Amino acid sequence: MINEIEKVLITKEELKERIAQLGQEIYNDYLDEPIFALCILRGSFVFFADLVRNIDKPVEVAFLHAASYFGGTESAGHVKIDEHMVDVTGKNLIIIEDIVDSGRTLAALKEQFKDKSPKSIKICTLLDKPDRRVVPVDVDYVGFVVPDEFVVGYGLDYDQKFRNLPYIGVLKREVYS
Ligand code: IMP
Ligand code: MG
Repeated sequence: MINEIEKVLITKEELKERIAQLGQEIYNDYLDEPIFALCILRGSFVFFADLVRNIDKPVEVAFLHAASYFGGTESAGHVKIDEHMVDVTGKNLIIIEDIVDSGRTLAALKEQFKDKSPKSIKICTLLDKPDRRVVPVDVDYVGFVVPDEFVVGYGLDYDQKFRNLPYIGVLKREVYS
C-alpha cells in the first residue's frame, strides 16, 4: 500500500468478484437486447473496461467527459459535460459512472440524454456515497455503498493522481488539507 493511503476500503479481489456479478446481472436483464455502454471519463475508465468484459455478449462502447470536481475534494456545484455528441437514438443506454456523490453529474447527464430518444436509459455506478446526495438520482446498478470519506484508486483520483491504484482506498487527510 502506498504512503498516502489511510486504509484499503475495497480490495482488488472484492472488486473483481463484484464486477463479475454486475456483468452477469446486466446480461440477465438485457438478454437479446443490444447494449450501448457509455463510459464517463475520466473516473470510470478502469471500472468500465472490467465491467464490459464481464458482459458475455457484444456491447457497443462510447466515451464522454464529465467533470464536477476541479482539483479539490469538494464538488464545484456545477457540471461540465463535453460537447462531443454521442448518438444514443434507439439505443439501450447504460451510463457507467465511478461514483455517485452529490448526484449532480448523473442528474445533468440524464437531462442531456433524455431528449435524444434512447430506447432506454439505465445507470450503473461502481460506488455510491448516499450520505452526500444533494440531487436525487435513480441508480439501477450499484457495486458498493461507501461511507462519506474521500476515496481514490481504480479510476478515482485526487488532483489527477491515484487513478492507477488497483484497489479503492481512503486518502490520508494530510494529503488534501
Ligand atoms: P457528483 O456530481 O457530486 O455526484 O460527483 C460525481 C463525481 O465526483 C464522480 O464522478 C467523481 O469523479 C467525483 N467524486 C465524488 N466523490 C469522490 C471521491 O470520494 N473520490 C474521488 N472522486 C470523487
Ligand atoms: Mg467522475
